Amino acid sequence: MSANQQKLNAARAAMEHIERDWIIGVGTGSTANHFIDVLAEHKGEIDGAVASSEASAQRLTNHGIRVLGLDQTGDLPVYVDGADEATKHLHLIKGGGAALTREKIVAAASKKFICIADLSKLVPVLGKFPLPIEVIPMARSYVARQLFKLGGRPVFRDGCITDNGNEILDVHDLDIPNPVEMETKLNQIVGIVTNGLFAARPANLLILGEDNRVQEIS
Ligand code: A5P
Repeated sequence: MSANQQKLNAARAAMEHIERDWIIGVGTGSTANHFIDVLAEHKGEIDGAVASSEASAQRLTNHGIRVLGLDQTGDLPVYVDGADEATKHLHLIKGGGAALTREKIVAAASKKFICIADLSKLVPVLGKFPLPIEVIPMARSYVARQLFKLGGRPVFRDGCITDNGNEILDVHDLDIPNPVEMETKLNQIVGIVTNGLFAARPANLLILGEDNRVQEIS
């Protein structure tokens, strides 16, 4: 069966953790899109959603689901989103879709972060997927030099402007045995808006879609 079916299975399983009349956080990417479509099948059960990207906000709106800003809602009971890589410790790499900053904000404002993914996303150590870093455009070269010093090989994501008007560097060749330490180091570099490591605030529940079942790690 396909990764697509596995993503859908994970999205359906996440729906079981959503309670009636909640306003929930909704992520970005192909797996999150499946979750939005599942939400549409349950229309009227939730009160609304806070989206982590303009693209997800549009998809929710197209389905007739009310989209709110985080300033209107306060903290959320749950945030559901995909990942580019995940470990069994629930540390993640995110940002393949360039939405990492809003994703980290909505995750931070949510009591529970449910990560949904196909089985291929589970890795023993993070870093094979190039780590996305959102940078202020004028700081791009400075930040790239600092990333080299950390042992990474930053590559400018050509033509990509984030929803916040910034740019993305994808950092190759990073081995990340200690994601919290690396996230902390990256947070010290001036000019970085957000790095794609979700480790200081990891997922609370990882739902991995398999062909005919899901695996839940918490
Ligand atoms: C978006 O910026 C990302 O963090 C996505 O959550 C991540 O890229 C997973 O995307 P897919 O669900 O499309 O694999």
